[in-house]
Amino acid sequence: MRIGVLGTGVVGTTIAGKLRELGHDVLIGSRSAGDDAVPFADAAAHGELVFNCTNGAASLDALHAAGAENLSGKVLVDVSNALDFSQGPPPIVGVSIDDSLGERIQRAFPEARVVKALNTMNTNVMVDPSVIAGEHDVFVSGNDEEAKARVVELLESFGWPADRILDLGDITAARGQELYVAFWVRLMGPAGGPSFNIHVVR
Ligand SMILES: NC(=O)c1ccc[n+]([C@@H]2O[C@H](COP(=O)([O-])OP(=O)(O)OC[C@H]3O[C@@H](n4cnc5c(N)ncnc54)[C@H](OP(=O)(O)O)[C@@H]3O)[C@@H](O)[C@H]2O)c1
Repeated sequence: MRIGVLGTGVVGTTIAGKLRELGHDVLIGSRSAGDDAVPFADAAAHGELVFNCTNGAASLDALHAAGAENLSGKVLVDVSNALDFSQGPPPIVGVSIDDSLGERIQRAFPEARVVKALNTMNTNVMVDPSVIAGEHDVFVSGNDEEAKARVVELLESFGWPADRILDLGDITAARGQELYVAFWVRLMGPAGGPSFNIHVVR
């Protein structure tokens, strides 16, 4: 598949690397072209599916630069988190208790099919769940069932077992996925670092 990965940080490059390893044709998007990056708009135009791996504070700007016309009708996997470090660590997490970046992106780009996924864990875990022993979970949300099904397929190709991919419903569930990160940053201490995840036990 042709995939555009918007973001040149550790998340964008790690996800792009994994997708290439799996045989996908990937372009990485950035504000300016660089070593292994093209402008956001070129990466988005290239992708049949697009990942948003940009800084949460700038994701809407980055996606506007990518261009609504280049996102229209496409699955847009949103991995971003809103983290405000202005008062030092730990960051203030989230945009609001009754909104989320995922929803803001869906509202700003109504023709895109936004699926929130993978934002609840460290990058190394996103693309290789086997780095953590035992069962643990990844969450998806979004308004478009077919878009979520395509993201679930991609997650399975990353190594996520089907029964560990939990569909939380429509994009308003992104509030929970994003606000959970406030807990994640505190769990990092007792967990002994960022390579951990959670598992829903029934
Ligand atoms: N690090 C993790 O393990 C982790 C885990 C879960 C979720 N996330 C989320 O994933 C996203 C990516 O994280 P990251 O650590 O890889 O990178 P990051 O440093 O948060 O973001 C880097 C990307 O954001 C773009 N960007 C920054 N300011 C911008 C602006 N003013 N306008 C347009 N684009 C701008 C950069 O563009 P240029 O390429 O032009 O510099 C770059 O591509 C974030 O939302 C983060 O919260 C991270």
